[in-house]
Amino acid sequence: MSLKSIQRKRGYTKYVVDKRLCYYEPSRDKLQKTFAQELSSSLAQKQKSIHPKFFYDKKGSQLFEEICKLPEYYLTRTEIGILTQLYDKLPSHLNGDFRLVELGSGSSKKTRILLSILERLHKHIEYFPIDISKILKESSTILLDDYENLHITGIIDNYESGLEFIKNYDNKKNLIAFLGSSFGNFDYEHGLIFLQKVNSSMKKNDLFLIGLDLVKDKTVLEYAYNDSQGVTAKFNLNVLSRINSELDGNFNINKFAHHAFYNEYKNRVEIYLRSLENQTVEIHKAGMVLPIKQDELIHTENSYKYTISKIKEIFSMSGFRIKDIWFDERRYFCLVLLSKND
Ligand code: TRP
Repeated sequence: MSLKSIQRKRGYTKYVVDKRLCYYEPSRDKLQKTFAQELSSSLAQKQKSIHPKFFYDKKGSQLFEEICKLPEYYLTRTEIGILTQLYDKLPSHLNGDFRLVELGSGSSKKTRILLSILERLHKHIEYFPIDISKILKESSTILLDDYENLHITGIIDNYESGLEFIKNYDNKKNLIAFLGSSFGNFDYEHGLIFLQKVNSSMKKNDLFLIGLDLVKDKTVLEYAYNDSQGVTAKFNLNVLSRINSELDGNFNINKFAHHAFYNEYKNRVEIYLRSLENQTVEIHKAGMVLPIKQDELIHTENSYKYTISKIKEIFSMSGFRIKDIWFDERRYFCLVLLSKND
């Protein structure tokens, strides 16, 4: 699809903030419809669920940044440690002029490490964050102050549409980064579809850097998703407040509890909201009246943990070649650098 047709399809408006920052935003209409439509189907299933991408409204993104600082949540800290090693290890893979494309602009600390690596290699650096959250606008403005030669083009949309956007954008090489353990939120089948999508949006010499959380001791994992300060619970419950405010819903968040555990058979942390009583919830803009039983679980996320053999399998199945894998000392987490196989 050409750039023009993807712009038309998503109804993007281009906002030029200044000569170093612009962003594209799809019409509000399109975003809202998706939220209401997806909920009216996912909450009508026998196993009710809410897609994890809806966690990240402004408040949700702030709460997630707080999660990343929790002592129990080893993921972000560990990944930052591995990224720091890349100051020495990544440049040999970056021949020529690369721009950074980031799926989920996440913690700006990680972005900064990658931008600093590019800054040492190029005079002029370009960054394309793709994020569903509007927080992108603020984080971009802060980055501009710190990197004088940085130019940012933000895309406030889902990953699929963002990838369509960068495909055929121009001939410059892309280093696409997908950090955190966001990939772990896909099940096997959807993960493969996503990887194929990334693969097909890449040009021959583009690179893909992805973070994956590894299988480890059950207690370490369960503490990471059940912190003692209750920030994770707040984050999980916030998706209900978001439904209330954006889709005119009436969830009482005091009548739900955060519930997370590690499923060793499936190598994944399963995250739910548990109803504390029999109740009926209405979501007006999704046209729903929803009876929920006491102890019924609304699924909000799976976070898959990987083994090395599984990692090799998924990337070979989706048309990638592993160029390098980097770990932390405890082997809790890894970053994989990939190129297209052909
Ligand atoms: N993608 C993150 C992860 O899998 C998101 C996350 C962290 C999360 N803690 C959570 C999602 C708690 C829901 C509830 O680690």
